[in-house]
This record gives sequence, structure tokens and C-alpha cells, in this order.
Amino acid sequence: MKKILITGGAGFIGSHVVRLFVQQYPKYHIYNLDALTYAGNLENLKDIENAPNYTFIKGDIVEEDMINKLFDEYQFDAIIHLAAESHVDRSISDPLSFIRTNILGTVNLLNAAKAQWHGNYEGKLFYHISTDEVYGSLGATGLFTETTPYDPRSPYSSSKASSDHLVRAYYHTYGMPVVISNCSNNYGPNQFPEKLIPLAINNIKKMKPIPIYGKGENVRDWLYVIDHARAIDLIFHQGKNGETYNIGGINEWTNIDLIKKMCEVLDRKLDRPEGTCAGLITYVKDRAGHDMRYAIDSSKLMKELGWEPSLQFEEGIEKTIDWYLANETWMNNITDGSYESYYQKQYEER
Ligand code: NAD
Ligand code: DAU
Repeated sequence: MKKILITGGAGFIGSHVVRLFVQQYPKYHIYNLDALTYAGNLENLKDIENAPNYTFIKGDIVEEDMINKLFDEYQFDAIIHLAAESHVDRSISDPLSFIRTNILGTVNLLNAAKAQWHGNYEGKLFYHISTDEVYGSLGATGLFTETTPYDPRSPYSSSKASSDHLVRAYYHTYGMPVVISNCSNNYGPNQFPEKLIPLAINNIKKMKPIPIYGKGENVRDWLYVIDHARAIDLIFHQGKNGETYNIGGINEWTNIDLIKKMCEVLDRKLDRPEGTCAGLITYVKDRAGHDMRYAIDSSKLMKELGWEPSLQFEEGIEKTIDWYLANETWMNNITDGSYESYYQKQYEER
């Protein structure tokens, strides 16, 4: 049985990847290593927690000795590495925790895999999940391709760029089999409500202001999270050693248009008079160093591996809103006292 270590599997994207692998590949054993930071939530995996091919391990990838012991004990065949500090705003106020987890944590995993595999790389793979933010910020036109030069601009994207470089360094220097994918903004169930879409749904529901940074003209390319998980599955099984694949939604929205669209849907779903939700839109101080536009060219993944997004945005956003409205307890459990006070402080500081 192939033993696959998935890191960060209790988080937003990781939980969808873990579920897909556990359900789709009974011949793999999936080990989910997660520190359960504020962003990790085992509720995300309740439905598969007793699956015979699934094991949860609580642990911090920054703890080198623990990581080495884990690799010794389980002898993993492959790693799908998603564990990270993932929120840009938090990286602006606390860069160091991003350096720790995203850079040091990645090096610990690479070293442990190198020591365990010991140059015998047959059937082995280190798959690093990364972001389009490593490419920097686009103007009104153009798309990020796999050959766009790296130009990260926030502590978050710099730490992810650094980890990408380290993964490539282990490929070139030690011959370790690796693949990297760089994805655009994900949305869907299980996303922590510090990110724009779940934050807006939560605030709208509670009739609280929806904070829009700056003029709301920044553009993001949104992809439904299950389509990201499907791409990860394809790249894991068919991606070429040493290659990078971009993953995007072909679905660009300015933040303000996205929020207005969501407001229309939510007026309807919450039985509110037209315009009620949009009345909550509040322009606030811009994010420092706010990247203007991200947009991804996924043609390599589409042509070489036959991937394409399965959901149109209209359907994806309806499903997403329905999920958050139906999962009030999930939202209430994570927006408890500590998050609520963190969020209030952030909001007031703007
Ligand atoms: P998330 O913040 O929802 O989840 C991160 C998970 O990692 C959490 O479960 C957390 O507990 C765990 N974690 C954090 N630090 C850890 C540590 N030191 N040791 C072990 N576990 C730790 O993040 P996400 O949005 O699901 O992103 C997952 C990955 O995908 C990240 O690497 C991120 O950079 C990348 N990514 C995210 C997006 C997006 O739109 N969310 C897009 C492209 C790439
Ligand atoms: O592009 C991929 C990246 O997408 C991932 O690598 C990151 O992990 C993920 O967090 C996401 O980064 P963004 O910074 O783009 O996502 P966020 O949801 O924080 O913000 C989306 C846009 O909305 C961005 O332009 C900032 C803006 N925004 C965000 C928040 C939280 C607001 O206007 N108001 C808000 O309250």
C-alpha cells in the first residue's frame, strides 16, 4: 500500500485534497499531518475520520526531530505539502511565523524525505502546493505563465516563493523527484472566514459591514476548491518530474464586482429587499502593498494533463453560499471569542 503524507490536511484546501484521496484511492494510506493552528479544523474531515486508509497526526512541520521520527516510523512514498501560513494580512503584521512554517517547515520536510529515500527515488514524489502570488502583480492585461519571473511582494508570497525555490533546489542538487503547482484564489466550503468570500458571507448574514480594501478594483482569478483538488490529483499522478503547473479559474473579478454579485445572491437567499446586502459595503484603508491583479494561464495543465474547471462561477458561488448558510455551527465554532476579537482589532485598525 502506498503511504502518502499530506500536510495541512485540516485546512481549507487540504481537507478537500485529503477527502478526495481517501475516497478515491482505497489502496493508498493517507497520513494527514497538521498542527491545528487557528486555520486547521478537524470538523472539515468528520465524514472520513474513521476511514480505514486514513490517519491523522497532530504535529508542527517546524519541529525537525518530530518530523524526522515520523518519516523513520512511517516510511512515506510521497508527500503532498499544503501546510502553510496562508493569509496575506497576517503576514503583514507577523512575517516571522510565515518564515518559520513556510520556509523552515518546508526544508524540514525536504530533509526528512531526502534522508528517508536516501537517493532511492523510484516511485517517490515531493509535491509542493504553491500560489500564483509568487509571480507578483499584473497590470490590466497579461497572464502568469510557468515561465513568468518570480516577483513576490508580500511576506506571505515571499515565503512561498522561497519554499518553491528550495523544492527546485532539492530537485537540481539531490535529484529528488518533485512537482510544484501554483494556483490562483480558491473559494468553496471550509475556508476560514478571514478570506474575502467567507468573510463577506459571514458579515452579510450578521448585517455587519463588508470591508472593501481601497477602491475594490483589485482583480483575483477565482477557482472552486474541488477543481483545485482535482488538478492536484492529476498532477500528483501524471505531472512530469521537476515541472511546474499553473492552475487558475479563467474567472477574473474585481473585488467590488464580486461582492456586489454575492450581495444579489444573498438578498435573494436571505429574503431581504433588493439592495440590503450591498448597503453593507464599506470602503476601508487599503492593504499595504496590495497586489493589483492576478490571472493565470492554465493552458499547460489543460493541454498536457487534460484538466479543466468543472464548475462555472455562477454555480460555484451559489453552492458556496448555500454551504456557509447551511453550516452555521461550523462558522460559529471557529468565529469564537479569540477570532472575533482578532477580527474586531483588525477592522478597527483600518
Ligand atoms: P489554510 O490556512 O486554510 O490551511 C493551512 C493548514 O496548515 C491548516 O490546517 C493549519 O493548521 C496547517 N498548518 C499551518 N502551520 C502549520 C505547521 N507549522 N505545521 C503543520 N501544519 C500547519 O490554507 P489553505 O488556503 O488551505 O492553503 C493551503 C495551501 O495552498 C497553502 O500552502 C497555500 O499557500 C496554498 N494556496 C492557497 C490558495 C488559496 O486560495 N487559499 C491558493 C493557492 C495556493
Ligand atoms: O492567489 C492565491 C492566494 O489567494 C493564496 O495564495 C492565499 O493563500 C489566499 O489567501 C489568497 O490571497 P488573497 O490575498 O488574494 O485573498 P484574500 O481573500 O485575503 O483577499 C482577496 C482580495 O480581497 C484581495 O484583493 C484583498 C481583498 N480583501 C480581502 C479581505 C480579507 C478585501 O477587500 N477585504 C477584506 O476584508
